[in-house]
Amino acid sequence: MPLAHFFLRERVRPGDRVVDATCGNGHDTAFLAELVGAAGTVWAFDIQESALAATKARLAAAGYAGRAEFVLAGHERLAEIVTGPVGGVVFNLGFLPGAGKETVTSPATTRAALEQAAALLLPGGVVTVAVYTGHAGGLEEGRGVEEWAAGLSPAAFNVWRCRQMNRSDAAPYLVVVERVPA
Ligand SMILES: C[S@@+](CC[C@H](N)C(=O)[O-])C[C@H]1O[C@@H](n2cnc3c(N)ncnc32)[C@H](O)[C@@H]1O
Repeated sequence: MPLAHFFLRERVRPGDRVVDATCGNGHDTAFLAELVGAAGTVWAFDIQESALAATKARLAAAGYAGRAEFVLAGHERLAEIVTGPVGGVVFNLGFLPGAGKETVTSPATTRAALEQAAALLLPGGVVTVAVYTGHAGGLEEGRGVEEWAAGLSPAAFNVWRCRQMNRSDAAPYLVVVERVPA
């Protein structure tokens, strides 16, 4: 199980409003849809129509189609589209496995989306960011995520960087941002 799912399972509750900021093939969207249940909503963002189609198909197959809003737009427009508070936001950076590597998340838009995600978080809510550094621009993007996360006020947010100790420094890692519970 991806480490991000441990944090999300801990915090996301039935009826919650949550966001998959990079839905890709829909694995995280389906997981979130399971957690929020029939009364909840998952906004699934991607800039590739093929990703949204794959995510829609995955949710329909799981019987969760009615739990998601599919958004063909960059996550840098998050706050424009999701206007109320949310319990969790998932970022899985990089490129879509099985598709071309030319469509990839980028440092500036990722940073803009992270700022909006943190601003939308409910107390106790979490933003999870899976960071991949192996592709062109990945290291720079990871540095941007860390710089942003490290600059968050400790009075308002708890922030962790989680790395596997038995993998190389180039392995993917997770950044988790929790809004301090009320
Ligand atoms: C690593 S994949 C996500 C995989 C996904 N979590 C899954 O379960 O299959 C990253 C995705 O981010 C998307 N993406 C790139 N830039 C984006 C942006 N500005 N806003 C939203 N999605 C973006 C890509 O199209 C790609 O599908």
